[in-house]
Amino acid sequence: MSNPLAVNLAGIALASPIVLLSGCAGFAEELAAIEGFDFSVIGAICLKGTTLEPRQGNAPPRLAETPAGMLNAIGLQNPGAKTVVEHILPRIRHLPTRLIANIAGSTVADYAEVARLFDNSPIDGIEINISCPNVKEGGAAFGADPQSAAAVVSAVRQMTSKPIITKLSPNVTDIGLIARAAIEAGTDAFSAINTLMGMAIDIQQRRPILGNRQGGLSGPAIKPIALLKVWQLHKITAPLGIPIIGQGGIASGEDAVEFFLAGANAVGIGTALFRNPLIAQQIHAELGRYLQNQGFASVTALTGALHLA
Ligand SMILES: Cc1cc2nc3c(=O)[nH]c(=O)nc-3n(C[C@H](O)[C@H](O)[C@H](O)COP(=O)(O)O)c2cc1C
Repeated sequence: MSNPLAVNLAGIALASPIVLLSGCAGFAEELAAIEGFDFSVIGAICLKGTTLEPRQGNAPPRLAETPAGMLNAIGLQNPGAKTVVEHILPRIRHLPTRLIANIAGSTVADYAEVARLFDNSPIDGIEINISCPNVKEGGAAFGADPQSAAAVVSAVRQMTSKPIITKLSPNVTDIGLIARAAIEAGTDAFSAINTLMGMAIDIQQRRPILGNRQGGLSGPAIKPIALLKVWQLHKITAPLGIPIIGQGGIASGEDAVEFFLAGANAVGIGTALFRNPLIAQQIHAELGRYLQNQGFASVTALTGALHLA
């Protein structure tokens, strides 16, 4: 019998449509160490954002809780692409799930070089983060302008034949403009959305709580915004067969179903993992039950199946 939860994400065969999101699942080793962790319910893991050189990240504090959400300003702390490819990937490549690199840089050339390093590795796909709000150079600056976004995607495209997933920012006026530029430059898929820019203030100290002053808002607080962006994107991508990993505040099977109906082909879980690292198991079971109860043979039939009349 075929697996009703299997999806094909731009050529990456996922046994489950659930993807663990970058920055919320480390380099996967941390998860493997958790008792009872079941990789069979996870289609893919997006590894922590990786840059050409190692980065120490931003000054602490880097996290702040907010109503129904979380602000983070990690600042892309990572050991650098060479270390990830040469030392970390050999230790995790055996895991029974797909592995997606998440790459970032301060210049277009940085992105291209990191993509080249991952191209010569067993990674299954490359997610381009042009939407990180927490670094001074690069990141969101590339994702806010169609020409810059296209320049990054096209430079990465020239370095790899692996599937490319462009991660879009909600911190723009028209997400469709950036998406169209990324499609022309050769992206195979999208991740939407990355965090929204936000701030938290300590009124006793009269200071910003985050060392970086501002950070990226994630979690249930951003879900309605994420749903709308995915729906807007789906109208552009569906006729072209370009898949979307929908994300932003998913914490239950019902949340995941909403994203599929809005047009997602797979769903990402990030912040919810901090509360329950085993939450994918619950979401996987809930999704399976929804399909059965509603008479869907496959999760792929849910994508964009929103009644508008
Ligand atoms: C602590 C933390 C670190 C993150 N680091 C990255 C990163 O390195 N690269 C990236 O593309 N997104 C990063 N993100 C964004 C998430 O991958 C995800 O797109 C976003 O949080 C929305 O999903 P969620 O509401 O389920 O967390 C990070 C998010 C959090 C909370």
